[in-house]
Amino acid sequence: MDATMTVMTNSFDTGTIGGVAQVGLSKMLRPECYTHEKWFERELQAIHFPAWHFACLSSSIPDTGSFVTRRFLGRSVIVVRSEDGAIRAFLNSCRHRAAPLTSQTCGQSHHFKCPFHEWTYDTSGKLTHAPGLGGYVTKHDLPGLNLNLVPVKCEVAAGLVFINLSDDNETPLEKYLSNYINSVAVPHQIQRMHCVHEKAYTLATNWKLYIEVDMETLHTNFIHSRSIGSQPVKPVQHDRNWFGVYHKNSHSPALFPEKRNLAFSPPPDVIGEAADGTHFCVILPGFFVVTAPEVMWWIQKTPISATRTSVNVGYAFHEEILARNDFNEVAPFYFERLDQVI
Ligand code: FES
Ligand SMILES: [Fe+2]
Repeated sequence: MDATMTVMTNSFDTGTIGGVAQVGLSKMLRPECYTHEKWFERELQAIHFPAWHFACLSSSIPDTGSFVTRRFLGRSVIVVRSEDGAIRAFLNSCRHRAAPLTSQTCGQSHHFKCPFHEWTYDTSGKLTHAPGLGGYVTKHDLPGLNLNLVPVKCEVAAGLVFINLSDDNETPLEKYLSNYINSVAVPHQIQRMHCVHEKAYTLATNWKLYIEVDMETLHTNFIHSRSIGSQPVKPVQHDRNWFGVYHKNSHSPALFPEKRNLAFSPPPDVIGEAADGTHFCVILPGFFVVTAPEVMWWIQKTPISATRTSVNVGYAFHEEILARNDFNEVAPFYFERLDQVI
């Protein structure tokens, strides 16, 4: 281990990772914390593997066999609605010789058939057919062997599906999200929202640089001067794994100023602060989620390496807004504004 790494490792261990440069009340990380692969390895173990990661809305997998696949921390994960209605997650990796079961990012299927030698699994991950093992598999066929798909922890809260890749993290999702559910998700009726537009891409940046920009509103008056401009906010009462700010809207911040007269009205059950303003929240480590009265959007960052980050962006509306006659006419103005900001 070189001298730099020794210092970095020690500072990581002692909890003083922020104390490397102080500007007023702010502490700043050293540049190598954004580029060094060994530092990144420590972050994976200490931060990302124990955390819950947003996968999709439960409304995106409404029927038996509806599934999405997501890549987290070097693993491909299938999130699927099983026959019993429960949402489950598995590694997208055949138990025979580890071929990916699907290359689709979403779809619907009552089984997952491996393209290599056609081992087949049902929507609860159970191996049901293995040609090389003599055809159909029953519990008597393979005594002592569990060749079902490897499960990944998966839980749903207020319509948000999260997965967790740690073997020993026992924190349930609801405890992890804490008061985010009742302070933000339920008032905004996230559980009744549907994702209408998604994008995925990879950026040549460290994941922290991107989530750090979600944690401050100092830049909105400058880089977002044409779309957001000055945006007064107040902090919301948060907890350990999330925090956020609230912006009281006079007009929807999800449209360009000249299009704000076209904003959809929020559904009648979005009330109180949720009907009057927008919550900009970060659910650690990488989920930035914005809930305005009539629309939600998110930017999920998942690290690939110290200098590469995969990004998933989604836009969602409540079901009654999707049913409006003018939805297809007006929605592109929302996408235009959100795309420009992102
Ligand atoms: S690798 Fe999947 S059936 Fe052989
Ligand atoms: Fe921004």
